[in-house]
Amino acid sequence: MKKVLITGALGQIGSELTVKMREVYGTNNVVASGRRIKEEHRQLIESGPFEIININDINALGEAVDKYKIDAIVNLAAILSAVGEKHPDQCWQINMNGLYNVLEVAKEKGCMVFTPSSIAAFGPSTPPDKTPQDTIQRPTSMYGVTKVAGELLCDYYFKRFGVDTRGVRFPGLISYETLPGGGTTDYAVHIYYEALKNKKYTSFIAKGTYMDMMYMPDALDAIINLMEADPSKLIHRNAFNVSAMSFDPEMLAESIRKFIPEFELHYKVDPVRQGIAESWPNSLDDTAAREQWGWNPKYTLDAMTEDMLEKLKRKLS
Ligand code: SER
Repeated sequence: MKKVLITGALGQIGSELTVKMREVYGTNNVVASGRRIKEEHRQLIESGPFEIININDINALGEAVDKYKIDAIVNLAAILSAVGEKHPDQCWQINMNGLYNVLEVAKEKGCMVFTPSSIAAFGPSTPPDKTPQDTIQRPTSMYGVTKVAGELLCDYYFKRFGVDTRGVRFPGLISYETLPGGGTTDYAVHIYYEALKNKKYTSFIAKGTYMDMMYMPDALDAIINLMEADPSKLIHRNAFNVSAMSFDPEMLAESIRKFIPEFELHYKVDPVRQGIAESWPNSLDDTAAREQWGWNPKYTLDAMTEDMLEKLKRKLS
């Protein structure tokens, strides 16, 4: 049985992973942490053990690991791609120095570490279609730079110090519980809110821009299944390509129209986020994840749209 510390637990992934992991490992075996708490976080904070931790404070991290006898750290504290272009310094501090602190604490105290990488770890010179597991990685965003460096750093801590590091390259994640915090793929979340509220959406990503995407329940399974996977089968460990679907804004709108026929999609392209999106692959090849630890996403685009609209409607009413 694992005792898990989740950093960035109040974010888009963390707020749902905390709940799911508590179902799997038991409430007291999953410690949530975040660096800033707001009123909207009250329910999560009161639902089990919680600590205020800024991952740039290595002592606070180490103390929490000791206090709760943690043996696995899930490092979700991060600045996403669009915010990272506005504040590259913060992006480096949190994504890179924060990960370094997590790995140092893990090395010192014998914890395993899960850290997500991203489709952002690829760049314009990467083969864009069926992007292979091992290929050119020359990203052009600060977020992408921290993701590639993070993949390498996690590999290094495994090879050099034997820290059991694992990770996946997440695509855009779509969910209804907590909004994403300033990424390029966020349009694919906002569109559902606007479809329900106003029956129309203005996309900051252009028509014809394909990116990999995934519904949150599949992403949570990816984290838990990889953390539970037999280490002797893992060849790649830190940077498994995972994908569930690839679409552009038009395809997403088409899917929404199956449930809200009058839905309208308009465009007002944001050059920064469009530039980032164009530097990322259209679709990843995730064969290695399927073969090495049984990755098998459940949600297709329409199944996700149906579930997302139903759950979001409940939430908004
Ligand atoms: N969803 C992230 C972003 O857009 C990609 O990992 O920044």
